[in-house]
Amino acid sequence: MTAPLTLPTSTIPDPAEAPGLRWGVIAPGGIARNFIGTMHAATASRLVAVCSRSRERARVFARDFESDAGLATAYADVDEFLAHEGLEAVYVASPHAQHFALAKHVLEAGIPVVIEKPMTLNAEQARELFALGHQKGAYVQEAMWSCFMPHYDVIRQVIESGAIGEVTGVIAEHCQYFPFDPEHRLYAPELGGGALLDLGVYPLAFAHWVAGSPEEIHATGTLTATGVDEMISISGLRDRTVYAVQTGLGARGEVGAHVLGTRGKIDVDSWFFVPNSFTVTQFEAGERGEDLRMRFTYEDSLPYELPRHPEGGNFGMAFEIAEAARNIRAGRLESERWGAGDTLAVLEVMDRVREAIGVRYPGEEK
Ligand SMILES: NC(=O)c1ccc[n+]([C@@H]2O[C@H](COP(=O)([O-])OP(=O)(O)OC[C@H]3O[C@@H](n4cnc5c(N)ncnc54)[C@H](OP(=O)(O)O)[C@@H]3O)[C@@H](O)[C@H]2O)c1
Repeated sequence: MTAPLTLPTSTIPDPAEAPGLRWGVIAPGGIARNFIGTMHAATASRLVAVCSRSRERARVFARDFESDAGLATAYADVDEFLAHEGLEAVYVASPHAQHFALAKHVLEAGIPVVIEKPMTLNAEQARELFALGHQKGAYVQEAMWSCFMPHYDVIRQVIESGAIGEVTGVIAEHCQYFPFDPEHRLYAPELGGGALLDLGVYPLAFAHWVAGSPEEIHATGTLTATGVDEMISISGLRDRTVYAVQTGLGARGEVGAHVLGTRGKIDVDSWFFVPNSFTVTQFEAGERGEDLRMRFTYEDSLPYELPRHPEGGNFGMAFEIAEAARNIRAGRLESERWGAGDTLAVLEVMDRVREAIGVRYPGEEK
């Protein structure tokens, strides 16, 4: 009989207590608004410089995020932006296809960088950025925000405790419906479009988080009229754990994740990659051989209070911002929670999946 489980608590420190850094943002679009809004609401870090392709857009962004540190300086030139006095970290929030060139520029200036997911279009580009970070002594982190969150931390602890037995399966899915629009970055090959890099990166990162880097990968998929991936099924094998990942932009799905073990399972609430709750079931572990269920409720399980989002959203990015701030201040070059090995392993899987279904981005022809 399995020993009844007591749920562990999260070991993720309060983001409000992380060091406050002076940040710059490149490409102030939709996700940059979330990131800087979260930074100001839930951490001690502050925006001091903004770089857009349009100085006017940078000015508008700076005005919208004026803080107790004052008004951030607006730039339309990356070199001028990188020369901003006292810049301690840069967040790159462009579409994926521009991540590599922009982050390379930042690292060449010796400045730590956090790059939106997926960090680059392929593993080769990411390898080059991590190597450059090491050479320049500058921190590099993919903004895989879920992997810095408390519920992922507790899921990892539950698995390691043996409470669900040996993990033999992972199922994760991220499908959303986006009406066909060849101009939208999700459909545009020149912007790194397709479901895999944008949506599939989350279930693949979850499967990697649980099972590790796969030895075997099989993938099938369909393509959009613009030649990027539309719906994909991926299966992976690592040691004795199989995983099944489904992703797509042509249908709306559950956005769920499940860890299957020989003596129990973990079902993460939808959407699994935002701050969320989950249920652990232990098979036949009760006194009369009944299944035992235990609930991890995200908000009740934190040892600190997080600020409430005025629009009912979440401040989940606070954990990745705090992780970067702590590591940069400590002089580390990558995160132990989601570092170079993790980013590269997932990008290598995505390279293999794209190869299998025939998706190549401009510049990858060789
Ligand atoms: N963590 C998350 O939850 C999450 C959610 C959504 C997206 N993302 C990631 O964040 C990144 C950006 O997504 P988004 O939805 O914010 O995209 P977006 O709004 O389409 O683009 C972000 C900004 O990038 C700049 N940009 C657009 N096209 C560019 C180009 N060709 N070259 C250089 N800069 C360009 C634009 O700013 P300027 O024109 O002002 O320079 C734009 O406002 C993607 O990699 C995506 O995967 C993450």
